[in-house]
This record gives sequence, C-alpha cells and structure tokens, in this order.
Amino acid sequence: MIILSIESSCDETAAAVVKDDVLLSSVVSSQIDVQTKYGGVVPELAGRHHIEMVNNVVRLSCEQADIELSDVDLFAGCTGPGLAAALLVGSTAAKAYAYALGKDFVAVNHHEAHILSVLLEHENVEFPHVSLLVSGGHTMVVIVNEPGAYEILGATIDDAAGEAYDKVARLFGLGYPGGPKIDQLAEKGDPKAFNLPRPLKKDPFNFSFSGLKTAMKHVVRDNPDAKVEDLCASFQAAVVDSLISKSEAAIELLNSRGTPSKAFSIGGGVAANSYLRSRAQELADKYSIRALIPQRSMCTDNAAMIAITGKIRYELDGPSPLTTGINPTWKLGV
Ligand code: KG4
Ligand code: ZN
Repeated sequence: MIILSIESSCDETAAAVVKDDVLLSSVVSSQIDVQTKYGGVVPELAGRHHIEMVNNVVRLSCEQADIELSDVDLFAGCTGPGLAAALLVGSTAAKAYAYALGKDFVAVNHHEAHILSVLLEHENVEFPHVSLLVSGGHTMVVIVNEPGAYEILGATIDDAAGEAYDKVARLFGLGYPGGPKIDQLAEKGDPKAFNLPRPLKKDPFNFSFSGLKTAMKHVVRDNPDAKVEDLCASFQAAVVDSLISKSEAAIELLNSRGTPSKAFSIGGGVAANSYLRSRAQELADKYSIRALIPQRSMCTDNAAMIAITGKIRYELDGPSPLTTGINPTWKLGV
C-alpha cells in the first residue's frame, strides 16, 4: 500500500510517501524564516504559507519517491491538534486529492503521530512502553499499551516544554524557535551554575514550566554578568530533570503493575534536544529496556509520522469520511 501524507498543523508544510512501511520520501518546508520576525507563529500567516507550499511539497514527495499521484492508495492528513488556519490547508488538500483520485482518506492526530514516529525507524517495537511527548504545544507522559491504545498519565498544567524553551530564548534575544539555540549554547555552559527549581516535584506525572520561566527571568535580571551559556545549561538541566523524573515514575508504575515497560520512547520537537536524548538513553539503560529515540528530523514536525500513523489508523478504523473537519484541540485517544 502506498500512503501519501500531509502535515500542516503549525509552521511546517510537509508531505511524505510510505510504501509498505518503508519511507520513500519526506519533504519539509519550514516557515521559520518568516515566523522568526514575529518571535512566534502567526496563525493566518502560517495558513497563507501552507497554501503556497502544499502542492509543491506533495509534488516533490512524489518525485523523490519516484511515484505518480495516481499510484497512491491512501491519503493521510493531520486534522488536529494545531492551529485552525494551518490545519485546514493540509487536511483539505489531502481530502481533495483523495476525492479527485477516488482514493481513501484517513484523518491523523498530530500527537499520536509524534508518539508512533518511532515505528518508522525501529523494528519489533514492544508494548506496553512509556512514551514522553515533548513539543512546542504539548508535554505529556503516556503509556502506549499498543498502537491506538494510550493511557495519559500526566501533562503540563501550564506551558509546554518547547514553549518554555522558546520563551526563555526570547529573554536572551535568541529568536524563534529557541529550543535548538539553547541546546547549542547549553553544551558550552555549566548546568550547576544557577540553582533553579524542579517544578511539581511532588506530583509524579504532571509538569509545570511557567514558574521555571519566571525564575529564569529573575536570575537573568539579578545576574547581568552571567554567561548566557551557563544560564542556558542551568535552565536546560531543570527542564530535562523534570521530564526524566516523570518518565521514570511512569516506568516504575508499569513495573509495579507487573507489566514492565518494554521500552522508553521520546517524540516531538524537544526530543531533538541533545541533553534530553542522552538522559533518555541513560534512563532506558538503568531499567535495561530499549531506548526508542527518533532521528532529529523525525522529532520536529514532519509528514512521515503522519503516514505511519495513518496506516495504523486505517487498519484499525478504516477510512475517515471526506466530511471530517479539523479539530484544533483534538485530545489523544478521543
Ligand atoms: O513538535 P514540534 O516541531 O512542533 C509542535 O508540534 O509544537 O516542536 C517544536 C518545538 C519548539 O518549541 C522548538 O523550540 C522545540 O520543539 N525544539 C527544541 C529543539 N529542537 C526543537 N527544543 C529543545 N532542543 C532542541 N534541539
Ligand atoms: Zn509537533
């Protein structure tokens, strides 16, 4: 089966082709250059750029996969969660291609796609396993009982991890998106230079990052001569400690239930972070379980993850009606 997928939930317009579980092409057109001027994503601007790019990324993904559009059996489109003006473009394009070519369409949840993105690169993934989803919009720790069956243990009660990175980067005038820039600077800094709070320490599974952001603001204000590298490293240590400790609590919970986690997976844009990637590997090693860490291009938004998830959803539920609308607040598993 050949699947062509489209992703446009935020500021990346992406298309991919997957044939029988093999990724043939993955094209991502980023709007970072446009959005960086505004320090974040302007939804209407994102929508307009998606309209300009969507057919191009589809054409390019077919060319790179060496297929014709008429070879496609199933069109998968991300219909949520995300920005309404952005989601509308990619999902409508996927439905229009399906309708025009008389093929099926399947609607895909962006979070499920981040969680299942590990299936593209890792064979024989076992369940249940703990997955940490860390993106610009969401942060959650989830038990994946099998593809399609999720138990959300905890989520952020305020800012998402990526959002915290982006907001703290703004304090240093680093531009958008801030995550990769803080990641790079932190490598040259001392994570113990500043003692920052580890938020919601007593709550095993939920996250909070807005207090940490405020603490950073005060540290920056009170230490005008501090090295930005040390500030970044200290902030990053606090974020990643929090992400890893909640993930560990989830692994412990599965162990206590007598159904040990078979792996620990990470997904979403912040999973591209070097320090989180090494701590995730260490955590998996501690429990002698497999670390499922996608390559960086599969962590940030892409359409390959939409294709693999579309295939699973199609096998589980069949095609989605062409009347399926977008759902900007679509909750995982609902
Ligand atoms: O998953 P994603 O591409 O889009 C959403 O679904 O939100 O995640 C984007 C987020 C941004 O907040 C960005 O700053 C963050 O991922 N990010 C990183 C890194 N690369 C991207 N955060 C920390 N370290 C990185 N290397
Ligand atoms: Zn995402």
